[in-house]
Amino acid sequence: MKKQLEKGFVTPLPVFIIATYNENGEPTAMNAAWGGQCSGDLITISLGAHPSTENIKRNREFTVSYATKEFVEACDYVGIVSASKVPDKLERCGLTVTKSGKVNAPVIDQLPVAIECRVQDIIEEYGETRVVAKIVGMVADESVLTDEGVDLDKLCPIMFDSSAKSYRVVGETVGKAWGAGKKFL
Ligand SMILES: Cc1cc2nc3c(=O)[nH]c(=O)nc-3n(C[C@H](O)[C@H](O)[C@H](O)COP(=O)(O)O)c2cc1C
Repeated sequence: MKKQLEKGFVTPLPVFIIATYNENGEPTAMNAAWGGQCSGDLITISLGAHPSTENIKRNREFTVSYATKEFVEACDYVGIVSASKVPDKLERCGLTVTKSGKVNAPVIDQLPVAIECRVQDIIEEYGETRVVAKIVGMVADESVLTDEGVDLDKLCPIMFDSSAKSYRVVGETVGKAWGAGKKFL
């Protein structure tokens, strides 16, 4: 029997590590789980008032790296601490960057896959800044690539379980999309 709950929520969510340059050209990053891909080449992220949000509004470009199991502590840390209080937050958690070749934004060296994004629209609604950005490129370490693209078993991305407030790894493959359902055709 199903129970009626007080609140509804979506779980799991992706764990995006958004990297930007501040007004002095210094790299910084934050954690964001309220986001996703919203069409073939667009992503959307809902942001509160943070220095990173201001960086995105000013530069109109940023990268989104997948948080990974190996770097779960650093990925959480950039979501706990603000650059407004700890300007060297990246250094403190051992993250280094290299400038993206496609956008004016840093790519985090330790995280194997980064999506390069250019702002398409910024919508202020529901007390949040909703950023809609075009995916203009992607960089991936050879170590996580196969002929088919990014291999999640190699990448080990983590997801945010908003119900248990925990990070979890992506699990096994259980079926092919646009394939598993064919048994009912
Ligand atoms: C698991 C997790 C998910 C988060 N998701 C979001 C989010 O979707 N949007 C947001 O604005 N902040 C989110 N945050 C909070 C920011 O990452 C946090 O406020 C961070 O310090 C902002 O960085 P900055 O102040 O250096 O720009 C999240 C934090 C955690 C730990």
